[in-house]
Amino acid sequence: MKVSDRISGVFASPIRKLSPYAEAAKAAGKKVYHLNIGQPDIQTPPAFLEAIRAFDDKVIAYGDSRGDTQLLKAVRSYYRDWGMDFDIDEITITSGGSEALLIAMMAVCDPGDEILVFEPFYANYLSFADVLNVNMKAVTTKAENGYALSGEAAVETVITPRTKAMIVTNPGNPTGRVLTSDEMDLIARVARRHDLALIVDEVYREFVYGVPFRSFGVVPGLEDNLILVDSLSKRYSACGARIGALLSHNAEFNAQIMKYCQARLCCPELEQIGAAALYSTPKSYLADVNAEYRRRRDTLEKALSRLPNVTFSSPQGAFYTMIKLPVDSAEKFAIWMLEQFDSHGETVMIAPGDGFYLTPGLGKDEARLAYVLNCADLERAIAIIGEGLKTYPGTKIPA
Ligand SMILES: Cc1ncc(COP(=O)(O)O)c(C=O)c1O
Repeated sequence: MKVSDRISGVFASPIRKLSPYAEAAKAAGKKVYHLNIGQPDIQTPPAFLEAIRAFDDKVIAYGDSRGDTQLLKAVRSYYRDWGMDFDIDEITITSGGSEALLIAMMAVCDPGDEILVFEPFYANYLSFADVLNVNMKAVTTKAENGYALSGEAAVETVITPRTKAMIVTNPGNPTGRVLTSDEMDLIARVARRHDLALIVDEVYREFVYGVPFRSFGVVPGLEDNLILVDSLSKRYSACGARIGALLSHNAEFNAQIMKYCQARLCCPELEQIGAAALYSTPKSYLADVNAEYRRRRDTLEKALSRLPNVTFSSPQGAFYTMIKLPVDSAEKFAIWMLEQFDSHGETVMIAPGDGFYLTPGLGKDEARLAYVLNCADLERAIAIIGEGLKTYPGTKIPA
């Protein structure tokens, strides 16, 4: 059997592609601090498992392709609390935000079409685009400008007759950037002017630290263009539940995606039951989690600022930051940390930065860190990176 050129050409996630090195390090007895992946260590609210344990049907049957009514109602009411009014038939439950992204891209692009993104961006967008034979086109944002958009003209120049959509991540992964109101208005204007689908990934909506946040869902005039990607993974620390959602006021979009949803039958039933129960978690849970991540963000910044020649832009949201390392190649450094280095039997896994860029050459000396560990572990992990940089043969000593 021969596999397709399509699958062979799919981009490998920088977040997971070094996992075999981490597994080997663990097999060799090292403790590995995972700063490579956004897997929070926060406890999932007990309501999830309690609801699943209470399930007593004799058959785990197929559910509705749009999603279970209880969960759809819970999502609708969550969005109402954020000032957004979606009818039940404007919400579709998906297997994580990941499936929501795939469906959205599939529904608005034909093979050969283009999607505009702001780089650095969440790397898995590219894998989904490759699967669909869709081309990503990037507008570059830079750490030295705090990842701010450089103006409407810079966005417009990337648009061609084949551009069908923009994907916007707010708060940003991997940058931790929260868009300003002016930037959001700029993006909304461009989407409307070129009649693009605006696929907005706000899965970190709850994770914003001391700056204003506005959802694209309340920006007027986007009813036709907006597709919101939602996920329970980070909101309730339920990554393995694989429950997300797609929301749109565009009736044609909602009707067309149902053909795909019916073909994949339904999302996992027990997880939808657990997910519906999660929405009854007291709001104080989200406030406590936010406070914890803010502490982690501050701890990370303090620890990073102790490392000579390592630079970064202060993250305002989500739980990631991109750092610039004084090394020949962040990927080589990441592998070396796992294969050859340890500090008292401990090492760190980071995600090499170039996988978050489309433009060749960008991000080679950068890495994405996820500050998903408790403050003590974070401090230790950053100190280990510092020790590694002192002995790594490819560390550049500035003139
Ligand atoms: C920006 C962004 N979008 C989507 C996802 C996928 O989330 P899910 O676990 O719901 O598939 C992630 C996961 O890390 C993410 O960071």
